[in-house]
Amino acid sequence: MAGQTKLGKSDLTVNPIGLGTNAVGGHNLYPNLNEETGKDLVRTAISNGINFLDTAFIYGPKRSEELIGEVLKETGKRDEVVIATKGAHKFAGDETVMDNSPSFLKQAVEDSLKRLGTDYIDLYYIHFPDEDTPKDEAVGALKELKDEGKIKSIGVSNFSIDQLKQANKDGYVDVFQGEYNLLQRYAEKELLPYAAEHNISFIPYFPLASGLLAGKYTKETKFDDLRKSMPHFQGEEFERNLDKVDKIRHIAEANNAEVAHVVLAWYLTREGIDAIIPGAKRPDQVLNNLKTLDVQLSQSEVDEIDRVFR
Ligand SMILES: NC(=O)c1ccc[n+]([C@@H]2O[C@H](COP(=O)([O-])OP(=O)(O)OC[C@H]3O[C@@H](n4cnc5c(N)ncnc54)[C@H](OP(=O)(O)O)[C@@H]3O)[C@@H](O)[C@H]2O)c1
Repeated sequence: MAGQTKLGKSDLTVNPIGLGTNAVGGHNLYPNLNEETGKDLVRTAISNGINFLDTAFIYGPKRSEELIGEVLKETGKRDEVVIATKGAHKFAGDETVMDNSPSFLKQAVEDSLKRLGTDYIDLYYIHFPDEDTPKDEAVGALKELKDEGKIKSIGVSNFSIDQLKQANKDGYVDVFQGEYNLLQRYAEKELLPYAAEHNISFIPYFPLASGLLAGKYTKETKFDDLRKSMPHFQGEEFERNLDKVDKIRHIAEANNAEVAHVVLAWYLTREGIDAIIPGAKRPDQVLNNLKTLDVQLSQSEVDEIDRVFR
């Protein structure tokens, strides 16, 4: 297929525009989610050449994987899609804890396979670190699953630089997923350079800063979901962020595109970033994000976006 990119040193090739699916059945994250709309997001993606779906056990919990499994069965296109999912959350009474132990991860993969209705997962991430398990042992468990063909590549998410280095001690980590966007650039310090140097594909999550960088919110916009408590949506900081977004509108216009597209295109110019997984709530947003692929930012535009948000 044209326009595909390889994820780091893994054998996975994907459209650089993927789909983040925490709004597909992620009832624990967004109130009043319609599951049929969620399935439509996945159908729209698959039928328009988006072949990289990012989900997790905890989205729902479980429902995101189950709904994706239903759409894959219905479309019969399992083999055309790269499925990334994640695990580490364990329910212990009223508490949710992280578990990276080999036995937990192996069972978590078996459970995800069932929910997704497939016999292999293209990319399996340890979603969050726990406190106890040495990270090379945790990744060692995933390497065994890879050797058995149950997963095709190995990812870790939300690890510190030290945890990532330990996880990658034997060179087994293919993909790292961490928060990174123009408003949250901490990863540029060590994580992104380490990933680029070791041919680990860095997948940024919250690429649109949960919609703030899409350029459609105003100072009057109100939120009724988890954004109510996110720092960059608060008071004066929210207003300052909207001002920064306004400063790059002319670059979007010059490219005959929307702000969301130039923001997403900017990530794809970063060394170490091969693909992005913007989330969407409506099928038109899924389609709209594909327009990113038409944007060719000049070096001076790349630099200007960098400066505005530095
Ligand atoms: N590894 C982890 O711990 C972790 C954590 C968080 C997320 N993730 C992954 O990263 C993915 C992306 O994160 P996210 O969905 O939370 O945030 P995001 O991609 O930064 O923002 C998505 C939101 O932006 C808005 N949007 C999307 N496309 C748009 C368009 N073309 N025009 C205008 N608005 C648009 C929509 O919000 P509105 O319609 O409400 O405006 C959408 O829900 C998730 O789906 C998940 O797969 C992983």
